[in-house]
Amino acid sequence: MIATSLQRKVTVCSALGLLLLPGCQAADTTEPYAEAIGFISADLPDLHTRTVSVETDHNTVSYRYPVLGESHPLSIQVRTTMAERQTAFLEEAPEGGSPELTQDTELLAASADVIGLRLNVVDSTAQGPRSSTLWYDAHGEQVLPWTSLFRDEQALAQAHVNLVDVLRDEYELTDEELPDPLGEVAAYAESLAAEEQTQEEEGRDTKKQPAPADSSNDSKDSEDDGSDDSDGDERAALPPGEADLTDPEQAQEVADAWADSPLADLAFSTAGGLAVRMDPDQVPGSDNDDEALVPIEPEMAEETLSELGYQARDAAVHGNASAESLDLGPEATTEGTTLDCAQAKCVALTFDDGPGEHTEALLDSLDDYQAKATFYVLGSLVGEFPDVVERTAAEGHEVANHTWKHDDLATMSDDAIRKDLQRTDDAIEEITGEAPVTMRPPYGSLNATVRSATGHPLILWDVDTLDWQSRDTKAVSEHALAETRAGSVVLFHDIHKSSVDAIPKVLAGLHEEGYHFVTVKDLFGLDGMEAGEVVTDARLN
Ligand code: NI
Repeated sequence: MIATSLQRKVTVCSALGLLLLPGCQAADTTEPYAEAIGFISADLPDLHTRTVSVETDHNTVSYRYPVLGESHPLSIQVRTTMAERQTAFLEEAPEGGSPELTQDTELLAASADVIGLRLNVVDSTAQGPRSSTLWYDAHGEQVLPWTSLFRDEQALAQAHVNLVDVLRDEYELTDEELPDPLGEVAAYAESLAAEEQTQEEEGRDTKKQPAPADSSNDSKDSEDDGSDDSDGDERAALPPGEADLTDPEQAQEVADAWADSPLADLAFSTAGGLAVRMDPDQVPGSDNDDEALVPIEPEMAEETLSELGYQARDAAVHGNASAESLDLGPEATTEGTTLDCAQAKCVALTFDDGPGEHTEALLDSLDDYQAKATFYVLGSLVGEFPDVVERTAAEGHEVANHTWKHDDLATMSDDAIRKDLQRTDDAIEEITGEAPVTMRPPYGSLNATVRSATGHPLILWDVDTLDWQSRDTKAVSEHALAETRAGSVVLFHDIHKSSVDAIPKVLAGLHEEGYHFVTVKDLFGLDGMEAGEVVTDARLN
């Protein structure tokens, strides 16, 4: 279905992968690159997405990511990457001018073998993050950066040389006009060519230099000539090394070394070549205002692709695009632990001793930032505010166990502790439909009996706002803002109006600093906590 509608659109030019070359015009100018690139321009109809969007007086940030299944590696990687970019944007954002960052994804390829996503970035300050692509290898169940589409580092260097050739020959760019790091690629290719010529002239032709320009057959003998390890400060990864690009970490290191490369934002043309999206300012003669698509012919591309690269190309050209066909695992939900807080800048705000009459106002404040928080509720109060507890859970917050009526568990018997916590779990589950995962002992008071009897991870805190003591809105928000760091668990009590009144300032301040507000479950990850374990801080554990 998708394949045929794409094929119908293919023009002679785009079939040759030549759409934006001089003389080639798109038949449908409203969608110039949909013609040239075989990406599937509509989202999978049965694919869930989730949007997190916050607008303040100072700035607007928003990201939308696909929820491919319960904790699917690609969902986690995409959301985490977006979260990190949002943090970088907010940390750097200028004071005035209402800067905006919008992030979204575009499906480039989808098959049972591979899913390719472009992470689109629209940054009003235009100095922030750039668009890039991520590739999910379904067989290895791993997410890989764009460099993994290439066979090895030689092939990657060759792909850059190919791009330089197209820009020189078809777009008539001079070497000075080549954007970074392509100028270095051109200089490197020329130095190799010159070296080769010198060697030929000297008649020493037995030992052939493995120039990137013919990377397809030479493989072995580069150790004593090509690799004079001085690449520490080199911006581009030249000369090519021997990283294993099927390994996520090694592939990412190579991607970091090629950080400015236009190939970071590449897709496949309907003809099976590459289509590299570049800034139109860098490519004179392109007639699209937003981005220029520079095509690399299929034959040239073919020499450089890896197995994953071939699969991605085939998926892009003949994608079997239904979420069902992709074997995405358990049903995708709109919530879920899709943010990796070991990488992203997260904070868990926690509220104890409720629910109470101020809890709903707190939920409203949290909603302004699409913030998720954790509520350590007392079982005895749950029945008094069932609607509040139901709303809390429905809005994606974690409702967790703070005992039945705030007794000091360290003074109780094993049996009494078990009964108290079970009764509280049951009261919560009756309203939310889900048994709590974590618990917090009143007063933070615990001993070996408490640890063995709880059956839950015991969650303490590393930032105590002392809100129950000060009852001072300003002091509470200032304390929270001063003490919070990445991975913090911050303690408040939503039974005090002064605490609830402090939250808008806390949310605003931490948001501006690039924090993401997550539940305790999401902060530590379900795999990161065990029953009886005392957890305070992700970074300390
Ligand atoms: Ni308490």
